[in-house]
Amino acid sequence: MNALAATSRNFRQAARLLGLDPKLEKSLLIPFREIKVECTIPKDDGTLASFVGFRVQHDNSRGPMKGGIRYHPEVDPDEVNALAQLMTWKTAVAAVPYGGAKGGIGCSPGELSRSELERLTRVFTQKIHDLIGTHTDVPAPDMGTNSQTMAWILDEYSKFHGHSPAVVTGKPIDLGGSLGRDAATGRGVMYATEALLAEHGKSISGSTFVIQGFGNVGSWAAQLIHEKGGKVIALGDATGSIRNKDGLDIPALMKHRNEGGALKDFHDAQVIDSAELLVHQCDVLIPCALGGVLNRENAPHVKAKFIIEGANHPTDPEADEILAKKGVTLLPDIYANSGGVIVSYFEWVQNIQGFMWDEEKVNMELHKYMNSAFDHIKAMCKSQDCNLRMGAFTLGVSRVARATLLRGWEA
Ligand SMILES: NC(=O)c1ccc[n+]([C@@H]2O[C@H](COP(=O)([O-])OP(=O)(O)OC[C@H]3O[C@@H](n4cnc5c(N)ncnc54)[C@H](O)[C@@H]3O)[C@@H](O)[C@H]2O)c1
Repeated sequence: MNALAATSRNFRQAARLLGLDPKLEKSLLIPFREIKVECTIPKDDGTLASFVGFRVQHDNSRGPMKGGIRYHPEVDPDEVNALAQLMTWKTAVAAVPYGGAKGGIGCSPGELSRSELERLTRVFTQKIHDLIGTHTDVPAPDMGTNSQTMAWILDEYSKFHGHSPAVVTGKPIDLGGSLGRDAATGRGVMYATEALLAEHGKSISGSTFVIQGFGNVGSWAAQLIHEKGGKVIALGDATGSIRNKDGLDIPALMKHRNEGGALKDFHDAQVIDSAELLVHQCDVLIPCALGGVLNRENAPHVKAKFIIEGANHPTDPEADEILAKKGVTLLPDIYANSGGVIVSYFEWVQNIQGFMWDEEKVNMELHKYMNSAFDHIKAMCKSQDCNLRMGAFTLGVSRVARATLLRGWEA
């Protein structure tokens, strides 16, 4: 099942549980605006190249729309649509005053030079600058984009609208980025894990972890879990997977990776088959790489008691059912990986205030938001008699539905 079908299915199930008016249910699924633009740039060799850019703005009932911009050869309108919708529910679960959006350009960023990427980003911004803005739609980095991409968008947008640091988040610190933003999603994953384990009378210290993905989310989650005394016993990325039953030395592994070493060449670990990683014995499994990695083939063999979805949409709906029957407790993506959007919100607030917070304040506020969302999800699970995924969906959907009704949606 693709991301759009799975997200819409979860939304519908939540709408039924909440007893939403069928007309309101239908209207909440329809995107506010779908933008498609042609971006033509001169390449470094003087030839012209054209790329298609998208921005789907799903919902703005709770505030400006918020979501990443990805550069990827397979950016497809259906997927962008699903991810925009997911952002609407995610910002509502996190209780940050935003709606949802997502965008992207169909391109292979690795095959474009830095100056070609800059021209492409500037042309895309010229085409959509009237439709984004500090109080309209605030983009952020996603797959294939980074803080430099945001710096170019900020600069191009500011040519039309004057200095506007809050038009994008995930910026470099020197241009108004927030301290703590880089680690925020991984830190949020750690806080979410801590909250879930505490609920079950356990803690990070004394538990064993398997993490898929050692990029931004996975490496920060691994470091912070390690700092809290958790044992990361297996880890994998696109280049391979490794394990050490006594716990991997994460700081040493970070150093090895930062020096350009592949995981499989790390001295203090044993190489394992990557297919084995997700079904490795552990207390907590944290997928932080791709979507759809837990499926009906491997779900029956998962041995973890808890799964924390650091990645977006790592569990397909068939796997979800199998895991629930096995008694695995799963913390869903729309909550577990919301640390990034929460600190993006702090970045936007700091830009609007023209006042920079220290990192301690950012982390403390993030902790508060993650704990509060967890408590609200648990309350929904109780009142709706449902699992954590539906608890999060019913929480997000009910908040958006209430905002929509209060605005007078039928008028
Ligand atoms: N970065 C954020 O703030 C953020 C926020 C919310 C959700 N997410 C989601 O988290 C996931 C990871 O994002 P990221 O920012 O860490 O990306 P990233 O590009 O920094 O890292 C991705 C990691 O996944 C690994 N990977 C790729 N293919 C793999 C494969 N076949 N098997 C095992 N590992 C593989 C890569 O080697 C890398 O270690 C994505 O699903 C993303 O949408 C990220």
